[in-house]
Amino acid sequence: MDVFEVASFYSMFNREKVGKFHLQVCGTTPCQLCGSREIIAACEKHLGIKNSETTADGLFTIQEVECLGACVNAPMLQVNGEWVYEDLTPTNVVELLEKLKKGEEKRGPQNHRKNSEGPLGRTTLKNIETGERKIERDFEKAKKEWLEQKEKERIEAEKKKAAAAAAAAAAQKK
Ligand code: FES
Repeated sequence: MDVFEVASFYSMFNREKVGKFHLQVCGTTPCQLCGSREIIAACEKHLGIKNSETTADGLFTIQEVECLGACVNAPMLQVNGEWVYEDLTPTNVVELLEKLKKGEEKRGPQNHRKNSEGPLGRTTLKNIETGERKIERDFEKAKKEWLEQKEKERIEAEKKKAAAAAAAAAAQKK
């Protein structure tokens, strides 16, 4: 029973033979919100199998799994517990399946995104490629706004405190 519990809980253990390409499609909330259901449906339709099934030629097995830690590039799938393909769409996932067969696939994001950069591109302090310092955010402005907000909150809290004290004093007079 102990062995069965472990083998049935962790998605890195397979209790049945899987295809040459074991497609583990993440179906957890971030991926689901970004369209993982459509990704699974596109794979199922293209391969003619359902979740947990293997194609007759033994090439592909589809398995829906829980978060694989690439939520920032959701939706995503992992192949053979090792290679990760991200930023999937129903169209590019079908292209990916065909490329896997030919050994021509590109790992990582399947759109033109670089790694997990946001839509505005790299916004970190240092440009790793060139080594040059590249600041794209106005941290002084952000700091000023934060300090102003804190001051507003402090004044508001003092007003509330004074009002509570005045109300307590008025109640004592009665
Ligand atoms: S939710 Fe899909 S990788 Fe985390």
